[in-house]
Amino acid sequence: MSTVDTSGTVGGIDDIPGPRGLPLVGNLFDIDSHDPVEGFVAMAREYGPIFKLSGAGSVRLIASGADIVEEVCDDSRFDKMIGAGLSNVRSGGAGNGLFTSETSDPIWHRAHNILMSPFGMQAMRDYLPKMIDVADQLTDKWARTNPGEDVDVPADMTRLTLDTIALCGFGYRFNSFYREAPHPFVEAMTRTLTESQARSRQLPLQTRLRVRAQRRMEEDQAFMEALVDGIVAERRAQGAAGDATDLLGRMINGVDRQTGEGLPDENIRAQCITFLIAGHETTSGLLSFALYYLLKNPAFLERARAEADEALGDSAVPTFEQVQRLTYVRRVLDETLRLWPTAPAFTRTPLEDTVLGGRYAVPRRTPITVLIPALHRDTSVWGPDAAEFDPDHMTSERLAALSTNSYKPFGTGQRACIGRQFALQEACSCWGPCYSASISSTTPTTCSTRRPRSR
Ligand code: HEM
Repeated sequence: MSTVDTSGTVGGIDDIPGPRGLPLVGNLFDIDSHDPVEGFVAMAREYGPIFKLSGAGSVRLIASGADIVEEVCDDSRFDKMIGAGLSNVRSGGAGNGLFTSETSDPIWHRAHNILMSPFGMQAMRDYLPKMIDVADQLTDKWARTNPGEDVDVPADMTRLTLDTIALCGFGYRFNSFYREAPHPFVEAMTRTLTESQARSRQLPLQTRLRVRAQRRMEEDQAFMEALVDGIVAERRAQGAAGDATDLLGRMINGVDRQTGEGLPDENIRAQCITFLIAGHETTSGLLSFALYYLLKNPAFLERARAEADEALGDSAVPTFEQVQRLTYVRRVLDETLRLWPTAPAFTRTPLEDTVLGGRYAVPRRTPITVLIPALHRDTSVWGPDAAEFDPDHMTSERLAALSTNSYKPFGTGQRACIGRQFALQEACSCWGPCYSASISSTTPTTCSTRRPRSR
């Protein structure tokens, strides 16, 4: 789907298609506040690989064509943009953690360098027993469910992933499987994210007038910070006996080799909140969607189950090598992230004035949001069955024939997801035991097959 205009004419932003807005508020009322992602995907179908939305005095481009996204992912011309939405998350508790920092912020580089190794291969081996510990809690719960009883899959997957990142990252147990309601951290975090998203759609005056919402957000932020401060204080109190190799240990003891500097306490707190936020809802959504698709497609489920049975054999606890052998399961997960990328967009901006697609002159600092679900359903890349769930879209031969920028569930370039391997290992390692211990011994109808909602 080429966007290059062979006539050589270059237009401006005004020439980019998009829904006609209203005076002053622009396209504010065109955005589906209940399901913004599906609303944007519908607009991409109508307006094409790049379209424009305007707000009060601002313009945002939404890109989903493979060629345009290829350009926008070029780190030498574009960078991540911290727009209104991420700024709200930043002020709501994530501070200058990795997710919400500008690339130009020296502390982003320092934290990135320090945190690369606790997300590396050796660290993944070390985390596996802890991942299995929490996965066992899930399978124990499901295995004890009576036939015919509903399982709230998204709620249990959220328990699993929150507890996993906290245990592997900080040695802390939320013990979510021993609670009826979500942990108060999850409630505070969900409210904060919902409010941050709502604010990015409001006029500044509207936000200022919502005094109660502001107070609630401050309370939630204080709660999250106090919880994390307690975890950090406990680790410091352990002194040399504390784990120095997990995320928290590395942040407390690690030094950036380039600058010789460590992370200040305030930044360690921001990173911990960031990992708890970025590191659990995305993976829990992935697992819920994957299970939904498998229950809807018994042949794929059977193949995944057979692979898990063969790879894991009679092992009570899967080894790192056994988890690596779950290649079909991994394909199921990759395909799930193609159709339902659980972080469905990321925003880039040109470092200098530029021409996009050989066709549109775009000034520097213009926000360009990559709409991942629409990119991943581009039929010119994925074929006529792009909208269908089929793990064979993800065979290594097929992927090798595509540009790496056709598949972007984990973002791009230097600002891509640092937790990618963590998420995929966690998802694979809970998956194997899930089949053997639970799903295979219950009928699929005991699991709720409602399609989970995207974020
Ligand atoms: C299926 C699971 C996951 C998905 C789909 C996902 C997706 C993404 C995406 C799209 C970005 C780029 C955002 C942007 O450019 O604005 C990102 C960044 C990030 N993710 Fe993930 N993520 C997942 C799991 C995790 C986990 C498990 C962790 C931590 C344990 C994590 C931590 C982060 C952090 C810290 C960043 C910011 C990196 C930086 O800019 O330096 N993510 N993720």
